[in-house]
Amino acid sequence: MSSSERPDYVDANVANWTRANAEYTDAQAERSWAAEEINWGIWQKPECELNLLGDVEGLDIVELGCGTAYFSAWLARRGARVVGVDPTPAQLETARRMQGQTGLEFPLVEAYGEDVPLPDESFDIVHSEYGASIWADPFRWIPEAARLARPGGRLIFLRNSTLVTLCMDFEGATERLLRPQRGLHRMEWSDTNEVEFHLGHGEWIDLLHENGFEIERLVELYAPEGAETHSTSLSRGMMKCCRPSSPTQPKSCASTRKARRVASLPAPASAPSSASTRRSCCRDGSSASRPTPQRRSRCSRSCRARRTSSCPVSA
Ligand SMILES: C[S@@+](CC[C@H](N)C(=O)[O-])C[C@H]1O[C@@H](n2cnc3c(N)ncnc32)[C@H](O)[C@@H]1O
Repeated sequence: MSSSERPDYVDANVANWTRANAEYTDAQAERSWAAEEINWGIWQKPECELNLLGDVEGLDIVELGCGTAYFSAWLARRGARVVGVDPTPAQLETARRMQGQTGLEFPLVEAYGEDVPLPDESFDIVHSEYGASIWADPFRWIPEAARLARPGGRLIFLRNSTLVTLCMDFEGATERLLRPQRGLHRMEWSDTNEVEFHLGHGEWIDLLHENGFEIERLVELYAPEGAETHSTSLSRGMMKCCRPSSPTQPKSCASTRKARRVASLPAPASAPSSASTRRSCCRDGSSASRPTPQRRSRCSRSCRARRTSSCPVSA
């Protein structure tokens, strides 16, 4: 099991997700848990079309950044043995309430994705849907995912596309490039102190390889034809990776413990929305001031990761 200090950004992100739970995730949980289909991303692409998970019955699955745990619930309902991990007590409280209401129970662990108090090689699938995949430092949570995955196990995660990350301001996606891709990593939003992590595709591939994963797929979740402009208009990247059962030593990374095979992936942004206020933010901890003090609501930030039609500020 790994040991590490609590990252400096976790408290700010927990505060934001506590507020988000009070504002909308708690209220949305019932409907999300009740959904019969497994859908991916803001455009709700059905799993039966994407076939990323396959048959999960009997598999051990950990979700890093489970939030209210609706995705874990979908997996548990299909026969998986699921563990939900999240650092925000309020999100887990909602998840527990939903477990009580539905009778669908599985373990919930309060922890952040960079340091998970669960044993090595104990999961067939390590999964993150807009959780650790956005709010945890990939240079810390990807090694954790590698540690948690069994030989032959998979890592499947959904995140923002790199392109939309480059075009994002305080309100959502714009039609302009607002920051360089070079050096993309830590992004701090000066309005909420929220900290996100994003990498370019090449860095993702290197990082996954260095941690022994092979990429199986990168799935681009584009907006469907005729879709209304979304506040973020994100296409999302879904990366599916696999850890081979006979680990081979990666070529160039001394820190990598085991090789893994990566299997599949996600995607870049489609038509950005017309948000006009530039959201300025800087990498590596230096936050920039926000040029315009008005925002539609805090939800436009918090809902960026997964905005549903019930979001109070849906575009
Ligand atoms: C968009 S929500 C989760 C969505 C989730 N799929 C669900 O079913 O509700 C993002 C979650 O990431 C969590 N989070 C924030 N920082 C994290 C970290 N360092 N590691 C793991 N999860 C984190 C937040 O607490 C929040 O619950």
